[in-house]
Amino acid sequence: MSTLPSKKGIFTASVLQNRGLGDKFFRLSLELEKKANTLFSSASAGQFVEIDVSQLALPTEKLIPEKLWDSSQRNVLLRRPFSFADIDSSNDCTIVEILYCVLGPATLRMKTLKTGDAVNLIGPLGNGFAIPEDKKSVILVAGGMGAPPLIHLAKVLKKQHQDMTITAFVGAKTKNDLAFFDIKTDKLKKKTDITLQEFAKHNIKTCISTDDGSAGFKGFVTESLKNRLGENKPAGEETIIYACGPEAMLSATAVLSSEFRIPCQVSLERRMACGIGLCQSCAVKCRDKTSGTLYKLCCKDGPVFWSDEVVWE
Ligand SMILES: Cc1cc2nc3c(=O)[nH]c(=O)nc-3n(C[C@H](O)[C@H](O)[C@H](O)COP(=O)(O)OP(=O)(O)OC[C@H]3O[C@@H](n4cnc5c(N)ncnc54)[C@H](O)[C@@H]3O)c2cc1C
Ligand code: FES
Repeated sequence: MSTLPSKKGIFTASVLQNRGLGDKFFRLSLELEKKANTLFSSASAGQFVEIDVSQLALPTEKLIPEKLWDSSQRNVLLRRPFSFADIDSSNDCTIVEILYCVLGPATLRMKTLKTGDAVNLIGPLGNGFAIPEDKKSVILVAGGMGAPPLIHLAKVLKKQHQDMTITAFVGAKTKNDLAFFDIKTDKLKKKTDITLQEFAKHNIKTCISTDDGSAGFKGFVTESLKNRLGENKPAGEETIIYACGPEAMLSATAVLSSEFRIPCQVSLERRMACGIGLCQSCAVKCRDKTSGTLYKLCCKDGPVFWSDEVVWE
């Protein structure tokens, strides 16, 4: 992706809603202060914000899962990165939607945010997905918590390119791990008849897979994708794949991209200390056309990379 430094700022946001979805997922809606409007209205899908949670309280003791008890007691000095599941910059105000999963001390504290609370964030950061003009068909591949930036991308693509055919392949370990989606199950409640409204409302067909077969195809999302590519053999020059999820899933998607000659962009995750290219903690090993390999920074050069640029290990 472009390595031009993206314009960013430190902003205050006000919590509009922080709604629990299932037992470990939350949807956080933030209204940004007005001076953030210009930067966020031109932010692209795949960019992210770094949220300061250092001043947030922990939930009460009984709401802290036992396995997070020890880690929850740590101070959270470093900001945490989150992608946008949506940005709505209309009516002179910017509302950012973040879908998050409670995993440790920072996200546990985010659970306690309530309407009207103030949040400090830096953004928009990094380089998002690039959208080549010549593509007619798009394949989105989301694994686990990789879905949020692809939900945002789906909306942007449908707005800018109404004629594009878009299919979303969404994978999770089990059906409950899809809880952050707005799920509609058909009356017969067959495990294959599930619609994810975030994609359906843009007329995007979704192919769901779960590792345990509790919803959709039983197996990895990349197996479901491979089957589909094998059946349809889409023209590589007209098609593009966008993927976000666990590294093993991205690496398997990169293999399919090369096998079926379809260009692919992946959004990578790294532990990020600063989020702005200073601490070098988020290195990504990449191929360099001249000298073999080099390290790029996930926060500044990414998080979105071409899949054939990354050295998968
Ligand atoms: C660009 C980017 C966008 C992201 N977008 C989202 C999002 O939209 N929604 C969401 O829920 N999460 C997202 N994440 C991950 C999120 O930043 C972490 O879940 C969060 O920082 C965890 O903080 P914590 O203190 O609660 O848990 P920690 O104690 O910091 O981590 C809990 C567990 O998650 C692992 N982990 C934490 N952060 C990462 C990471 N960046 N890469 C790989 N493993 C990690 C840790 O190794 C540990 O096992 C994103 C990360 C990046 C880099
Ligand atoms: S997080 Fe500090 S350089 Fe990327």
